[in-house]
Amino acid sequence: MKQILVTGGTGYIGSHTAVELQRAGYEVIIVDNLSNSSVDVLDGIEKISGIRPVFEQFDLVEKDKVDAFFAKYPNIQAIIHFAASKAVGESVEKPLLYYRNNLVSLINLLECQLKYGVANIVFSSSCTVYGQPDHLPVTEDTPRKDAESPYGNTKRVNEDILHDTIAANPQLKGIALRYFNPVGAHPSALIGELPLGIPANLVPFITQTAAGLRSELKIFGDDYDTVDGSAVRDYINVVDLAKAHVVAVSRLLGNKNKAGYEIFNLGTGNGVSVLEAVHAFEKATGVKLNYKIVGRRAGDIEKIWADTTLANQELGWKAEKGLEETLLSAWEWEKRVRGIN
Ligand code: UFG
Repeated sequence: MKQILVTGGTGYIGSHTAVELQRAGYEVIIVDNLSNSSVDVLDGIEKISGIRPVFEQFDLVEKDKVDAFFAKYPNIQAIIHFAASKAVGESVEKPLLYYRNNLVSLINLLECQLKYGVANIVFSSSCTVYGQPDHLPVTEDTPRKDAESPYGNTKRVNEDILHDTIAANPQLKGIALRYFNPVGAHPSALIGELPLGIPANLVPFITQTAAGLRSELKIFGDDYDTVDGSAVRDYINVVDLAKAHVVAVSRLLGNKNKAGYEIFNLGTGNGVSVLEAVHAFEKATGVKLNYKIVGRRAGDIEKIWADTTLANQELGWKAEKGLEETLLSAWEWEKRVRGIN
């Protein structure tokens, strides 16, 4: 069985990807420092797939530990690198923490890839690298813009680190996947998104409001140039997103990549406004949400959605799940976590 290292594998997207890799016949080895996730996620993965992933708890910023890990597991074929700090607001307060965590961990992995002969890496990037694009939908050729936050800048710089390292080392191959807005949970409700504290992202805030943990959802802005004035995003189901990682790994392992370094947008291709998402949640779940329109959130862009042609054609991958089904899965997960029937 081919071994895949999933860094950040107890996190939100990492855990869903671990399950899909196992279903596709890969052996998953998870490395996570548990700074923003729980070891219990391994139970959820095991309940779904019947297989408990190998788990090593350490911080990828610690070079000696990364090196010892690769010495211990000499058969790893590919890495999917999710592990990163990801709170936009926190990154503005603590830029050095973000640059250290997100840049040093990738550098350590790449250095060990060269040392131990691990050829393949898939990197978690973000549509945040596009900023507010001049044209929509956004293709992979759209020029990147200056990041709005240190977090966003780490995604951009990490893409550059990957690009330059692969250019200088043809034995390495990499794929950067630019996620739009990942939402929802596994249909089993055994794994999902579990933010610590007050959620910054829309869907966890919606489900926590519906569950009674938050008194009301604030909708940030209704004066954008969009269908109803609220901001527009491309919300992609996390299981669909996870499946794209399996395709990306198989592409690298099968030498089907067309260049040493490739980039793909992962979205649905549909723009959805915040108000549309709220109403889709209410329709899918039958739960009325208490919401209020407030002013714009600093740093937010007005609208973005993906042109998915490249991923559809080259990866043979397409987002399949609809928004209501996806929001229902997020609600089922929230209910399970909170013990609501
Ligand atoms: N929103 C609300 N109320 C909330 C939370 C969010 O109205 O309580 C709105 C936001 O203003 C935005 C939309 O819902 O219009 C989506 O917001 P999220 O925070 O869920 O997602 P973002 O589009 O802001 O985040 C994306 C990526 C991040 C990345 C960020 C960069 O998911 O990884 O872009 O700006 F960091």
